[in-house]
Parts: sequence; C-alpha cells; structure tokens
Amino acid sequence: MVEQTVQIISNERDTDAYFRLVLRAPEIARATQPGQFLHLRILPMRDALLRRPFSIFQANGETVSVLYKTVGKGTDILARMRAGEELSAIGPLGHGFTVPARGGETPLLVAGGYGTAAMYLLAERSPQKGIVFIGGRRRVDILCEAEFRKLGWDVRVTTEDGSYGEKGMVTQLLLAELKQGSGKRKLFVCGPTAMLKAVTRIADEFKVPAEISMDEHMCCGVGVCLACVIPVKTASGWEYQRTCTEGPVFDSREVLWEVAK
Ligand SMILES: Cc1cc2nc3c(=O)[nH]c(=O)nc-3n(C[C@H](O)[C@H](O)[C@H](O)COP(=O)(O)OP(=O)(O)OC[C@H]3O[C@@H](n4cnc5c(N)ncnc54)[C@H](O)[C@@H]3O)c2cc1C
Ligand code: FES
Repeated sequence: MVEQTVQIISNERDTDAYFRLVLRAPEIARATQPGQFLHLRILPMRDALLRRPFSIFQANGETVSVLYKTVGKGTDILARMRAGEELSAIGPLGHGFTVPARGGETPLLVAGGYGTAAMYLLAERSPQKGIVFIGGRRRVDILCEAEFRKLGWDVRVTTEDGSYGEKGMVTQLLLAELKQGSGKRKLFVCGPTAMLKAVTRIADEFKVPAEISMDEHMCCGVGVCLACVIPVKTASGWEYQRTCTEGPVFDSREVLWEVAK
C-alpha cells in the first residue's frame, strides 16, 4: 500500500453520470488484486480532508483506472478534473476477491450499477470463465457489457425499467441459472446493499458459496477510525470487522445482516 500524488491521464464520460478515470500509478497498478480499492483525495475540494473510496476497475502496467458515478460533492468535482491535474491516492487497499482456479467452480459474477467496476479485474484475471449478471435501473446503468464479452464471458443483463436486457432484477436471472444449471458454482457479488442481501439469501438457499463486496461509508480507509465496521460471525459468536481492512470482500455466510446497520 502506498500514498502518492498521481496524475490524471484521462477522465472521460462513459454513460450518463458515469465516468472513467485513468491515473498514472505504476506501483499501485503492480500490487493490485481484484476487488481492492483506491482511497482518493480530491485535491480541488475545499474540505478535501476526507478521501473517497473507489474500486480499482483496471490495472495495466503504469496505470490504474476507476469507473465512478457522480452522486455528490466529491464526485461532481472529480468529474470536472482534466488530464494533467493531480489527486492523492492511497492503494491498493482492502481484502479483495479470491481469483477462481482453473478447473474449479464456475464463477458467477453478479454486479449492480457501479459495482460492475469491482468485477472487471476479477473476470480478466480468472482463468476459469463463467457468467456475468449485470443489473441496473435503466440502460445507462449497464456498464462494461462489451468488455466482459470480449474477455469471453457469458453476459446476461437486466434493467428495472425494461429499457435493455430482461425487465426486472438481476437476481431473477441468477435464480433461473441456479435452478437449471449444474456443477459447482461460486458467486462473486458487488452492488447496492439490498442486492447483496438478496444474493446472500439465494446463496444460502442453493448452498452456493458467495464472496460479497460491502459498500460501507468510509473515513480513514486504513483501519483506524472504525467508521466502516460491520458485524461478522466468528467461532465464539460475532465481532465487528472493518470493511476497509478485513473487507470490503467477505464470505456472505459470515455477515450478520440481522445486526448490521
Ligand atoms: C469499497 C468501496 C468501493 C467503491 N467503489 C466505487 C466505484 O467503483 N465507483 C463508484 O462510483 N463509487 C464507488 N463507491 C462509492 C463512492 O465511494 C461514493 O459514491 C463516493 O464516496 C461519494 O462521494 P461524493 O463526495 O460524491 O458524495 P457525498 O457528497 O459524500 O455523498 C453523496 C451521496 O452519496 C452517498 N454515498 C457516499 N458514500 C457512499 C458509499 N460508500 N456508498 C453508497 N453511497 C454513498 C451519500 O450517502 C450521499 O447520499 C465505493 C465505495 C466503497 C466503500
Ligand atoms: S474507514 Fe476507518 S477503519 Fe475503516
């Protein structure tokens, strides 16, 4: 993990409110594992003290990139930054996904909205191809479909308003696959908390292991402030664990949703 000032190589709109930010950060790129994140200080913000966490979308040689949605003050200012400007980055942070082994369980990736960003590197590094289920409210929320197909994955899409792919929730397609498919499968999930809960219930019902990436508000990002804790089952009961260091990826069977905020 390193903290460094990094230069923006490009920061372009993807669809609607989504942007792709490419940063020159060779040390971070070399060390990145799928599911890890960057903690970015957006230097032009007046109260830039609080960093913002973003999944590492791609890591290639000299560069790392982030796929982000503008939702508030920080991301709005970030979206106006241009090539050549600088950010402060800490990364790669957190405990990421387990990369599937060749010949092992078939990976089923389930992604919602900007959660798709956490999935690309996993799909790229997995020697075992599987299915990517991508869900969003509208067509513009469906990200990276062509890129997953280019990697050789089977991609299935749902939108809540029916504007693209099948109408409904991404869990419908997952359920259909689990009901009719066969063989050993493993789920990898990143998206809104409601989706993580729904997929956890499905994983329990079908007795399929699942790794889920938790989306908790963070402050320090490095295990000090405890702003990001979630309740996790242990051999002797349960304890709070930090999403930024023990997570963001957890085994779905270990997250104690009943106690979670
Ligand atoms: C491990 C991790 C990985 C993430 N990866 C990505 C990513 O790849 N792409 C991406 O677009 N976003 C990602 N996020 C969410 C991103 O950090 C927030 O959207 C961002 O911090 C908002 O900053 P802001 O200043 O624009 O919004 P603020 O002005 O701080 O808040 C605006 C709105 O966004 C909500 N918000 C703030 N933080 C979060 C959060 N963590 N989750 C959900 N809602 C939030 C606030 O409650 C508020 O409603 C990730 C979050 C975590 C914890
Ligand atoms: S964000 Fe500070 S401990 Fe996790």
